[in-house]
Amino acid sequence: MKRLVVVSNRVADPGCLASGGLAVCILDGLKERGGVWFGWNGEIVASEAEIGVSCRRDGKVTFVTMPISERDYKEHYLGFCNAALWPVHHYRLDLARFTPESCEAYRRVNSRFAEALAPQLNPDDLIWVHDYHLIPFAAELRAHGVRNRIGFFLHIPFPPPDVLVAVPEHEWLMEAMCAYDVVGFQTRTDQANFCRFLCEAMGGEMVTPEVVRVSGRVLTASVFPAGVCVDSFSAMATRPEAEKRIQWLHRRGEPRTNIIGVDRLDYTKGLPDRFRSFKRLLELYPENRKAVTLMQIAPPTREEVKAYADIRHELEALSGEINGQFGDFDWTPVRYVHRSVPRDTLAALYRGSQIGLVTPLRDGMNLVAKEYVAAQDETDPGVLVLSRFAGAAEDLEEALIVNPYDTDEVAQAMQHAILMPKQEKIERHTALLARVREHDARNWMEGFLQALDAPPAPLASLLSTPSATFDALQPWGVPAPTAQLSAAPNGRATASRGFRSAAMPQAHSIRAAEIISTAPRA
Ligand code: ADP
Ligand code: G6P
Repeated sequence: MKRLVVVSNRVADPGCLASGGLAVCILDGLKERGGVWFGWNGEIVASEAEIGVSCRRDGKVTFVTMPISERDYKEHYLGFCNAALWPVHHYRLDLARFTPESCEAYRRVNSRFAEALAPQLNPDDLIWVHDYHLIPFAAELRAHGVRNRIGFFLHIPFPPPDVLVAVPEHEWLMEAMCAYDVVGFQTRTDQANFCRFLCEAMGGEMVTPEVVRVSGRVLTASVFPAGVCVDSFSAMATRPEAEKRIQWLHRRGEPRTNIIGVDRLDYTKGLPDRFRSFKRLLELYPENRKAVTLMQIAPPTREEVKAYADIRHELEALSGEINGQFGDFDWTPVRYVHRSVPRDTLAALYRGSQIGLVTPLRDGMNLVAKEYVAAQDETDPGVLVLSRFAGAAEDLEEALIVNPYDTDEVAQAMQHAILMPKQEKIERHTALLARVREHDARNWMEGFLQALDAPPAPLASLLSTPSATFDALQPWGVPAPTAQLSAAPNGRATASRGFRSAAMPQAHSIRAAEIISTAPRA
């Protein structure tokens, strides 16, 4: 088996409380298969001179990590990653902030990380890069002469082209993304948005529904829904300590129904709307007063970004308002916990809650939805209320699917869940659990690595010859391109509609083009 080298900005520390789907699903998959995990160690140092690489082994995983400088933390992590790319990818252009310095820092950090990793790679390592912090990482590795196959998985949504073009450097970014051999997405919608951009704005052509020829290269763009480790989660939820916590939950809380929400305190998670929906539940169905509690666990995240500080204030005000209006000396309607909790405690809380409320306004996948399903008692399960805008909704059809912006609809779904007969709960949960098992952490990792390591035979030769023409594929029965393209005078297909703008930083476009066109191929 080839050595796997995973690269991500956030690297989980197995000894600490992780909050964030990326760290959770990589750790679940990597612990089993083993390999190297390279990325940021979460430390911030005063100057670049203090940056050094450190190495540590835990079970089958070797962690190779490095700090970033204070300047890069501000301009790269808080700046380009979380004040520009994150809001754009979650369709929140109103919150996006772009500066040339932050984009420059993004390029700088990617380049420095690649420089640190390149000498440690073996020629047959499989390299798997994760998430929006590292889009140009493959292009940077190629510039260091790395010939390995390199894959990329985007944990967050990929927006429609009209939204993406708000990023001033979108052309450079998308060119850089084409330096990967395999690009993976959470949902079909994300994959379709990506392919649309390549075809409409970059003159790409679909060779098959998952293979695109673009910018002189051929890459695979497929869907690999991220998942959780079902057995380990349900084992945590059924330990004797978990049982004690569940009993405590029911003894302490007078209410018959506990509704649970677990999310980083991120504006994409729809927490204010969720609280307002809970308030509507108490208004529309007053019989639930003193009978239902909403427990929201929302650890802090990226607090130095203004939009995150704003959401915290809004949420604190809302929980105070609801508790003030409806609470009594023997009942607190909203229990709001603003910190991380151990995973086994989370598992127990999920199992002890009759409703899992997962209502993001936009989310790549949302692993909390899957964890909630995995933790339930199969003979007496709770009900999952799930936003249609979570990637998980593409798969988890048996949940009560809601529009999180419609507070009355969410309140009605909660009421539906409260009154749902046990038999219906069991039927829905059985179907959901089967889907969560089918797309678990192991299948996600194996599926991606298979696509990266062993492209389908008929395409293998095409993938290694970027200049191959479409005609060369006909003998293998590859269908005609699906995109609407017209032939240009030079014979290359061109897009019928373009998103190109002239406002691209010169230095970036030249650099990316050089890196990609001179990249040695595996
Ligand atoms: P995101 O990746 O956007 O944070 P996900 O729902 O996909 O959203 O993943 C969140 C992960 O972080 C889940 O595994 C969840 O259990 C974990 N998590 C969220 N909140 C907490 C918390 N308060 N304490 C511990 N883990 C948390
Ligand atoms: C999401 C992103 C991850 C990120 C995580 C936690 O899951 O997709 O890339 O690691 O949120 O955010 P943080 O900024 O703390 O790494």
